[in-house]
This record gives sequence, structure tokens and C-alpha cells, in this order.
Amino acid sequence: MPNLNSEISTPKSICIMGLGYIGLPTAAILARKGYDVHGVDVRVEVVEKINRGEIHIHEPGLGELVEEVVRAGKLQASTTPREADVFFICVPTPFNADKSPDLSYVRAASEAVRPYVRQGNLVILESTSPPKTTQETVVPLAIPEHLQVGKDVFVAYCPERVLPGRILIEAVENDRIVGGVTPACTQLVQKFYETFVTGAVLPTTAVAAEITKLAENAFRDVNIAYANELSMLADDLGADPFEVIELANRHPRVNILRPGPGVGGHCISVDPWFLAHAAPNHSSLIKTARMVNDSKPQFVVDKVLKLAREIESPVIGCLGLAYKPDVDDFRESPSLEIVIQLQKACVGEVLACDPYAGPMHCSGVTLVSLEELLRQSDIVLLLTDHKPFCELPVNLLQGKQVIDTRGVWKEEPRVVLHGENSRESNRAWPPAA
Ligand SMILES: NC(=O)c1ccc[n+]([C@@H]2O[C@H](COP(=O)([O-])OP(=O)(O)OC[C@H]3O[C@@H](n4cnc5c(N)ncnc54)[C@H](O)[C@@H]3O)[C@@H](O)[C@H]2O)c1
Repeated sequence: MPNLNSEISTPKSICIMGLGYIGLPTAAILARKGYDVHGVDVRVEVVEKINRGEIHIHEPGLGELVEEVVRAGKLQASTTPREADVFFICVPTPFNADKSPDLSYVRAASEAVRPYVRQGNLVILESTSPPKTTQETVVPLAIPEHLQVGKDVFVAYCPERVLPGRILIEAVENDRIVGGVTPACTQLVQKFYETFVTGAVLPTTAVAAEITKLAENAFRDVNIAYANELSMLADDLGADPFEVIELANRHPRVNILRPGPGVGGHCISVDPWFLAHAAPNHSSLIKTARMVNDSKPQFVVDKVLKLAREIESPVIGCLGLAYKPDVDDFRESPSLEIVIQLQKACVGEVLACDPYAGPMHCSGVTLVSLEELLRQSDIVLLLTDHKPFCELPVNLLQGKQVIDTRGVWKEEPRVVLHGENSRESNRAWPPAA
């Protein structure tokens, strides 16, 4: 292998394609580190906002950091790429209606950088991608034909594994995987990540890195599916699922996760399908887990409707629309899906409250304040365990029918998603002693 360290100059400039939850924090972190960062997004309003030093997403600490690096001239945004030493691709990778991967954004971003890629550049895919995307999509579309990968330019897949709400910390401190298309690609990209990541930077191949990222999310999905299946099973049999899980977890080698209203977000509910699609004959567990988790919102809807039909002109108040607590992300959210299904069922009025939701996030949903929701609702349905909901004084639920899909209001008296024969069944808050 050539002495790459001496042949390739130290990167100074960065071009990041996609300025969302991954691209923008990455851009800001690199700008803070001293790199000259050019961020690219196809949405003009996002570009304009960032250039004013503002942000369009909710992420702790990001607003201040973006303001600082934009003011310092280290980060600027545009709708078009430009020449740089390192290119990042951080665009969405959703799935199609048939659950097959939609690589159109990765293709578009790869094609967009191609005219700007020069000898000595690094091209890094961070979007969560199906196996072989780096080799079979990014290389042919992003790399000009006259440049040889592993000799002239260096291409790698480096997945993100950050937790929304902690992105600025985890993007720096988490261990990272660098999967190069060739060993030279791995070596150079690993060296570059080591300039801004304090966690270990672990070298591997592109395809191993792609599978690893998907395997991480499929692992989470399978474990959550077990909790969700158990919660439905326990509920049907008349037991409190959260109590069953709490008791089972007293076994020294058992650690069942908490069930919820389903699995959402654009990672855990999407990525396992990429594995299933790539290896249809060896993914029955992964596919089953997806189906179990996808069935949970309907289970919740059926429970609520059953209860609502016992009340004249019921008002159903739904707490939370985001897919997880304390974030403004509504993509693939089971909470939102449940609210929409309840509205479609036309059994009564459906109100919703989410501190992070605006009309543009949740069109068609009747958004009200927490006070208004609690004042009007006969049934209070906890869907997303945002902090203000978890901290709700229980006396405010007095006289309501309460369904807690997250098991957060678990101090006595416990009211949970309940089975027909459960001793917890359909009782008002607080239950009679
Ligand atoms: N959000 C997370 O917590 C997380 C964690 C790990 C991995 N990922 C993965 O990272 C990738 C990006 O996710 P995200 O959450 O940042 O998505 P996002 O939707 O928040 O951001 C993507 C951005 O890319 C822009 N974009 C689309 N096409 C473009 C193009 N051709 N050129 C330039 N910009 C373009 C969009 O306008 C958007 O602003 C996805 O593959 C996702 O699965 C996300």
C-alpha cells in the first residue's frame, strides 16, 4: 500500500450534502473543529435559515453552535455543492410503499457532487443504506470515471448511531465504524474521523459497515417487538404488561424492554426492511418483528375505541404525537398514526397535544394546549412520553379514563393499557381503593 499519509494532504474543507438531523450537527461539529464547511440542502428555506445562524430542527445545543460557526464564517449553506477535500452524503433513505429501499436521494446527492470531486478527495456516505450501496450506487454515480477509487479518491461508508437529543455529544463520543471500499479508503477515512471523534474509530469493509448499522437497528426492533408482543399477550390475558415485565426483569439474566404504542422514527421502523430486502431468505425473525411492531398501533386504537363506545359523545385526548419523547420528529410515528386512525373512526372528538408539534407537522389533527385537553377529555391516552406528560400531577387526571401506552404513570394507582378481564380494566383515575 502506498504511504497515504504523505501522499494525501490534510483535509481542510468539507462539503456536506443534506442538512437535517445528521448533516447539520456534523457540519457544525466539523466547523467548530476548524474545518471550512459548505453545507448543501435542496430546501431553500433550510439554507436561508442556516445562513442567518438559525436552525430548522430541534436539537439541544445545536442552535447556539450553528449561530457561533456561521458568525465565525466556518459554516455556510447553499443549494449547490462546491469543491472540497471531503464530501459527506447525509440525505434521507426512506422506503417505498412495498418496503423496498428508496435510494433516490442518495443517487441525487451522489450525482450532484460528481462534477466537484477531485484527486485526493474523500467521499463518505453516512446515510443508513442497504448493503452494497457504497460500492454499487455511490462509487459509480459520485466518482468521475478518470479517478480510481483507492488510489485517486477514497470512498467509505460511515454510519451514524446518534440518539436524537444527544446528537452533539454522541456524534463526537460514540465509537464509529469506517468501512472503506478498499483498504486505502478505510485507512484515510479512519484517519480523518480521528480528527473529530473521541470514541474509537473501527476499520472494516464498506459492506460490513452497511450490514452492521442495519443489524444494530434490527436488534433494537426485535427486542422491542418482544416487549410489544408480550404486552398484547398479557393484556389479552388480563394482566398488567408493565407489571409482568418489571417482575420478569427481576430475573438476573432477563432484561425485557418497555413496550409502547408501536415503533416509529425513520430508523428502527425502516432499516430492518433493508436487511430483509437484501436477504429475503434469511430474515424471517427480522420481518416478523417488523410486523409485530407495526400491529401495535391498531391494537391501541381498538382498545381506545372499545372504551370510547361506552361513553356518550366521548372526547379523546391524545398526549404526544412525536415518535419518541422530547423530540420534534414525527416521521413514521405510531402516536400520530393512532390519532389519525381514531379520527377516522368517528366515535367522538379527538384532541391532541404535543409540545413539539405545529400544524405543518400534523395537518388535520386538532392541536390544543395541555390544559385544554385535560379540561375537555373523557379519555386521556398517553402516546409519547414527553417530559411534561410524565411529570403531570396525577390529580389532573381525576375522573378521566386513562390509557397509558408507555407505562410512565406507574406510581400507584397504576393505570395502563388494560385487558378486558384485567383488574385494571377500564377504570377511571384514580381507581377506587
Ligand atoms: N436522525 C437520526 O437520528 C439518524 C441516526 C442515524 C442515521 N440516520 C440516517 O441519516 C440519514 C439522514 O437522516 P436525517 O435524520 O438527517 O434526515 P433529514 O430528513 O433530517 O435530513 C436530510 C436532509 O437532506 C436534504 N436533502 C434531500 N435530498 C438532498 C440532495 N439531493 N442534496 C442535498 N440535500 C438533500 C433534505 O432536504 C433534508 O434537509 C438517513 O439515512 C438516516 O436514516 C439518521
